[in-house]
Amino acid sequence: MKKTVLVSGGAGFIGSHVTVELSQAGYDVVIADNMSNCDETNYKGVCAILGRQLPFEKIDFCDAAAANDLFNRYKIDAVIHFAAFKAVGESVEQPLMYYKNNLDSFLNVLECARVHGTNVLFSSSATVYGEPDETPVTETSPRKPATSPYGNTKQMCEDFLRDCVAAYGMHGIALRYFNPIGAHPSALIGELPRGIPNNLVPFITQTAIGKRECLNIFGDDYPTPDGTCLRDYIDITDLAKAHVCAVTRMIEGKMDEPYEIFNIGTGRPVSVLELVNSFERVNGIKLNYRIAPRRPGDVTAVWADPTLAQQKLGWKAVRSVDETLASAWAWEKRLAEAAE
Ligand code: UD1
Repeated sequence: MKKTVLVSGGAGFIGSHVTVELSQAGYDVVIADNMSNCDETNYKGVCAILGRQLPFEKIDFCDAAAANDLFNRYKIDAVIHFAAFKAVGESVEQPLMYYKNNLDSFLNVLECARVHGTNVLFSSSATVYGEPDETPVTETSPRKPATSPYGNTKQMCEDFLRDCVAAYGMHGIALRYFNPIGAHPSALIGELPRGIPNNLVPFITQTAIGKRECLNIFGDDYPTPDGTCLRDYIDITDLAKAHVCAVTRMIEGKMDEPYEIFNIGTGRPVSVLELVNSFERVNGIKLNYRIAPRRPGDVTAVWADPTLAQQKLGWKAVRSVDETLASAWAWEKRLAEAAE
């Protein structure tokens, strides 16, 4: 019998790509989203890629009764929780909003999962490693004190999951994403930042299309080969496929421990300047950029050791940065065409 996966935040950037990969791998997917930070573009794109309508539930997981009702109406084998606020700067300005939303919603998901015996996959972040003492980071590298309420919610939610698994006999996996970029090869789903993008690649593509005048490169005096920060940019489709492996591992009872953590990255550090140069070369575009002061809170260098995911999940990133940057540009152009 087909297994059912609930994807909270399934209309968002990562959630929509994960929905496509799960569906193509043979899972029934229920998309749930309160649409607070997105429109219907990605939901429609998912249905277009798959050639059919997927069940969609407009729900806010902070509403415990609504969450409970949803778990009663579907027989859910695993839940992947993406529904959360994700802007670092905003979280510093509005910590209570972040704590209420990101913690309450996950607590309600955990309560439903406990009652219904559902496997839980939590979308964590490399942000939990802060400025690491050693790179690349492994899953046993120490977590550093969070520098923002957003980062703190990621650490706290990891701990909620760990403790619930220990206490209630549940099964859970936390995936720590490095820097997800790019868009689906169909250019039917992708990232839809509201307002001025915080993240590098949406800012690059918006500058290239003429929506932004100039890209600021935040600092060129870091202790790195070219002076700009190093990150592990991971293709969104590669990242989405890791979820299929993790969900299958939980559902098929193949876990070594009831709570597991995996880094989801490429293992390849790329500097901001390298990324900008690749974007220009691959897409034949001259980007308007300048060197600007460092952005407060940025770490110098962080990239993954993805060995554990390869060994245990049988997953590995395969797409090149070039392919991914071409997909990001195709998506931005499609958005511009749709807006005409
Ligand atoms: C950021 C968050 C991280 C979050 C992730 C989600 C911070 C400190 N970290 O990661 O917690 O999980 O987004 O995707 O905000 N850059 C520029 N110009 C820009 C934008 C970015 O030079 O206009 C540089 C940054 O300095 C950084 C790199 O590009 O070196 C990547 O930045 P970004 O895409 O924002 O990701 P992170 O900061 O790594």
